[in-house]
Amino acid sequence: MSEKSFFPVHHPDYRYSVSKNPYWEKLQGLSNRVYCDHQTEAFHGRCLELFPQAARGKLTVEVGCNAGHVIVESAFQNPGESFIGIDWKFKPIYRGAEKASKRGLQNLGFFRAHAERLPFMFGNGEIDRLNFYFPDPWPKKAQIKNRFFNSERLRLIAPLMKPGGLFHIKTDHRGYFEWMIQAIQENLNLWEILSVSENLHRDDPAPHLLDFPDVTLFEKLFIRDQIPIHEIKLQVRR
Ligand SMILES: C[S@@+](CC[C@H](N)C(=O)[O-])C[C@H]1O[C@@H](n2cnc3c(N)ncnc32)[C@H](O)[C@@H]1O
Repeated sequence: MSEKSFFPVHHPDYRYSVSKNPYWEKLQGLSNRVYCDHQTEAFHGRCLELFPQAARGKLTVEVGCNAGHVIVESAFQNPGESFIGIDWKFKPIYRGAEKASKRGLQNLGFFRAHAERLPFMFGNGEIDRLNFYFPDPWPKKAQIKNRFFNSERLRLIAPLMKPGGLFHIKTDHRGYFEWMIQAIQENLNLWEILSVSENLHRDDPAPHLLDFPDVTLFEKLFIRDQIPIHEIKLQVRR
């Protein structure tokens, strides 16, 4: 039976639909830290408890992590910290969780969820570092309302960050970059701009040699096609 939520995705009473995606079933069969839909909201305010004591240093969350290329390497290189990758696609989350399991990573979890529900997944002051790499730009006028990054979202995310927490953003899309800068300027009371680059790899003589976690899967393609990468680093003001 299929169930359609009456409420929009950012509403507290939103319900995830029952999915017929074959990877939904497969995800239920995984025994490592991978959660789907409403399960991802069960750890609100205590996400670090998902991880062993030795990994409870800092919590990094990557929104739109796809199959976890970056976050798997980050978790591997930082065993004393915890990591959660979020994506709304079932198959990439499954692939990411498979990789984490094969590498025996105890400090990495995956959430199959809508990023719009971030405030229901994380409590106040829980996130040390939020990464947002190459989000879908929704370039057409009628699609712009679908962009994850906007002024209201910056206001909603700020309280979820630990005092001094960092928000790292990269995009290849000039229009989305300008849109982000506009939204940030409307929230300078909450966020400080640490740095902005309009061509991140300009001074690197061999950017095509960069690898995960320093670049993402999409970033590698943009580097190959010589498309400039825009980067923004923000710090929450608290
Ligand atoms: C363009 S891809 C970039 C993937 C990866 N960050 C990289 O740089 O290689 C955008 C990713 O964000 C995910 N995504 C888009 N909108 C999302 C949303 N509202 N909630 C969760 N994931 C989302 C997509 O499924 C996709 O994996």
